[in-house]
Amino acid sequence: MFDTMTITKAGASLCAALLALLLAGWASDGLYSVGTANHGEDHVSGYPILVADAETDAPAEEVVEVSFTDVYAAADAGAGEGLWRQCQACHALEQGVNGVGPYMYGVVGRAKHAVDGFNYSNALLAMDGDWTPENLNDFLESPRTYVPGTAMAYNGMRKIEDRANLIAYLATIGN
Ligand code: HEC
Repeated sequence: MFDTMTITKAGASLCAALLALLLAGWASDGLYSVGTANHGEDHVSGYPILVADAETDAPAEEVVEVSFTDVYAAADAGAGEGLWRQCQACHALEQGVNGVGPYMYGVVGRAKHAVDGFNYSNALLAMDGDWTPENLNDFLESPRTYVPGTAMAYNGMRKIEDRANLIAYLATIGN
């Protein structure tokens, strides 16, 4: 069985973990967000927060809230061109050429489900708005989370830098 000390320690680590989660959630909720002026569509700006380790009192872990806006500002379209391979099986870049998915010509800034004659899923048809870089970032991170029920059978691109580079590349096509 556990002795009292073990239970106390376990309780303390749990509290520390909860506190860290709380802080991270708080920061990402945008309490610290600063309006950056471009296009009025950027939102969260992130700042690194230091989370002190409850047991040693030393700054232990740096939780960095990376803002997509910042990553996108430094994106490399050249690197994104290579990542486009992951999409090519289903999407063409040329205007009017649909495959398994709709063509990507001018997709950055394009209204969602705007390709005439493409048979979109009801899930995607139910969405409003444009494919801003921010929205594309969220969608490409996890298509099924952003559009539950989407017909796009793609698991998602994990690294925010990769997504930013790919979107920067797409922004050079037809914009
Ligand atoms: C396995 C095939 C497949 C792959 C791989 C794929 N897609 Fe798609 N994509 C689709 C389909 C199908 C749709 C339509 C989704 C729907 O109607 O729900 C779609 C829709 C989209 C849309 C919305 C277009 C619009 O007009 O609203 C974007 C943006 C998009 N894909 C980008 C990408 C990118 C970028 C990649 C590569 C990282 C990618 N897709 C990989 C099949 C795919």
